[in-house]
Amino acid sequence: MVQLLLPKNSRIQTGKTWPKPDGGTRLKEFRIYRWNPDDGKLPQIDTYFVDLDDCGPMVLDGLIYLKNKIDPTLTFRRSCREGICGSCAMNIDGLNTLACTKGLDEIKGKVKVYPLPHMPVVKDLIPDLTGFYAQHRAIEPWLKTVSPTPQTEWLQSHDDRAKLDGLYECILCASCSTSCPSYWWNGDRYLGPAVLLQAYRWLIDSRDEATGDRLDELEDPFRLYRCHTIMNCANTCPKNLNPAKAIAEIKKMLIERRL
Ligand code: SF4
Ligand code: FES
Repeated sequence: MVQLLLPKNSRIQTGKTWPKPDGGTRLKEFRIYRWNPDDGKLPQIDTYFVDLDDCGPMVLDGLIYLKNKIDPTLTFRRSCREGICGSCAMNIDGLNTLACTKGLDEIKGKVKVYPLPHMPVVKDLIPDLTGFYAQHRAIEPWLKTVSPTPQTEWLQSHDDRAKLDGLYECILCASCSTSCPSYWWNGDRYLGPAVLLQAYRWLIDSRDEATGDRLDELEDPFRLYRCHTIMNCANTCPKNLNPAKAIAEIKKMLIERRL
């Protein structure tokens, strides 16, 4: 599945071709989106070459190679290198995914790397996720209760705990939301797949006692109902989660409470 690639501030032009590494015999070509808010230039695509014999197996390894050895100004986020923190999400080879879990050997030809689509760009491969995080905060992603706090812990049966599978694994990388055309066009009012999956995670938690309030907040033509089941979210999620299914479950809960 190929997605629209362009970040919000883009009229992209051909950029610089950086020198090939000395002595490399197995070179992989990278085409990388560059934009610096401080130099007044339009975004551009720079061409780089990575020596595969001197580099780890993942796209993130390639980016770190380029930053360390070729161009220290290349800017991107990363932290865990284990597919856990979600900070290295970017558009690679036409698909939103994690640079640290995307193998270079999965990519035939050039490695094309862009920031997550249709978000404002801070610099190079770093999208501005301020609005995304504000939306996550807005669904109040924590346990809400009215019962007296237990002495030790809030108990949950094994069956109820199992209902969180496929939800708790979300690392909030934003790959799904930024692959969603509804979110591209209505991202200021539509919560998007990632945040709705998180909302469902709290709705379905047997220990939470704010289900009615949570559903009230979601019952809105934009916040929830801008999902048109396009399914890009489920196709792109690097953790193999299915936000579209979570959204459908929320819609079902809203119908059932009217019956
Ligand atoms: S559902 Fe998947 S793609 Fe979306 S934020 Fe969570 S981990 Fe990332
Ligand atoms: S660096 Fe943490 S998910 Fe990639």
